Amino acid sequence: MKIAVFGLGYVGTVSAACLARDGNEVIGVDINPQKTEMINAGHTPIIEPRLGEMIDAAVKSSRLTATQNAEEAVAATDMAVVCVSTPSQPNGNLDDRHLAKVAEEIGASMRGLNRRYTVVVRSTALPGTMREKIIPLLEEHAGGRAGEDFGVCYHPEFLREGSAIDDYDQPPKIVIGSEDDASRDALERVYVNQDVQRIYTTIEEAELLKYIDNCWHALKVAFGNEFGRICHKLGVDGRRVMSMFVQDTKLNISPKYLQPGYAFGGSCLPKDLRAMTYLGRNRLDLSLPVLDSIMASNAVHIEAGLDLVREAGHREVGLVGLSFKPETDDLRESPLVTLAERLIGKGYQLRIYDPSVSLAKLMGGNKSYIEQAIPHIAELLVPKVDDLLAHAKTVVIGHRADVAEKLAVLQSEDHAIVDLAGLLWDRQTDNQGYLGIGW
Ligand SMILES: NC(=O)c1ccc[n+]([C@@H]2O[C@H](COP(=O)([O-])OP(=O)(O)OC[C@H]3O[C@@H](n4cnc5c(N)ncnc54)[C@H](O)[C@@H]3O)[C@@H](O)[C@H]2O)c1
Repeated sequence: MKIAVFGLGYVGTVSAACLARDGNEVIGVDINPQKTEMINAGHTPIIEPRLGEMIDAAVKSSRLTATQNAEEAVAATDMAVVCVSTPSQPNGNLDDRHLAKVAEEIGASMRGLNRRYTVVVRSTALPGTMREKIIPLLEEHAGGRAGEDFGVCYHPEFLREGSAIDDYDQPPKIVIGSEDDASRDALERVYVNQDVQRIYTTIEEAELLKYIDNCWHALKVAFGNEFGRICHKLGVDGRRVMSMFVQDTKLNISPKYLQPGYAFGGSCLPKDLRAMTYLGRNRLDLSLPVLDSIMASNAVHIEAGLDLVREAGHREVGLVGLSFKPETDDLRESPLVTLAERLIGKGYQLRIYDPSVSLAKLMGGNKSYIEQAIPHIAELLVPKVDDLLAHAKTVVIGHRADVAEKLAVLQSEDHAIVDLAGLLWDRQTDNQGYLGIGW
């Protein structure tokens, strides 16, 4: 293929070199003349293992050249891969001016082309940037419609500096956000020989996925380091402990606990988190902002559930599930108990259905917890889900009780459903009355 790579920084130079190595004809474009001159002389403008030899070979074989002239590059290619910088502004917001400028230049250069051109954006951009800014700029300057007159993909980059060429060749995944098959197929031709997991999705989801990845990686580093500091103060070997931690691929390093849903609770997580942060703060004299923030985040999420009930608009509310998770009667620190308390406090007429919770059978700490939290709980619990549905105009799905069929029917009627558990996530309709907490 004939490909123009816009932005010859860490991402663009590696991409240009790898694309040329793979047999494509590549033109690198940068506003910085030093970078284009270096490339044309067969040198790499950035330091990265093996990159120098690759650039040298690609330039010698005439498969890689560089220019400052965007129009010339677009005229000679079928696809632009945009890798320009998107740095932070002083206030933390993303600075997408380079991206916007390149969209204008590529758009203007596409005007009058008598073949379909595809624009692939790899720069990291906040969700909405493509639809609200970049695509309109391309359309305005090209004088055509994205998806019809030219192709557009948002294609996040996951390479890591230091192992960038290996990551280019074996990325963790290839994500293509596109609106039309022709754009996606054009980009797929670049990766025809790459046996890597594909994720095809919308432009917004592809934009967001990149941020979730990077926020997750940052959180992992900070989490590991906070426990490293705790271990150091305790005289424990942090690297040994964390290498034991990661051996658990069932619960720890796994998809578990990462699906949006309701807040955590129960008799262990809040208690153990509090004990750990107390130890860090008061006995080890450590600052642990990540660990300290977790309970606060959870409290915000409990309130988010309340906000959805408020948004649903009805005063008669039925809560499905009360214990901290299904098929247990453990009510201690259940976020649904807190939600119920808050709803009662706000004057909602609440009924609760939880087949695992029988007041007669509750004992010990569990019993005293619920009696203290909701003193007249007996009046609110109903024995059958039908009793709950007869009362409620808003049904709150707290956890996965065996009532999905009945609740799905409600969606089409005069009821609102607040889904905190994802029970009806895959059956969402256009019904205005369905409110999911994270979807
Ligand atoms: N560096 C990484 O490891 C990495 C990994 C994944 C994603 N990303 C994302 O990729 C993008 C590029 O990152 P980078 O580290 O390669 O940036 P960089 O700053 O190293 O390079 C960006 C290049 O774009 C050029 N440029 C700016 N405006 C231009 C224009 N109008 N026309 C042509 N060139 C222009 C700059 O001169 C510079 O050479 C960013 O959005 C970044 O967030 C970076």
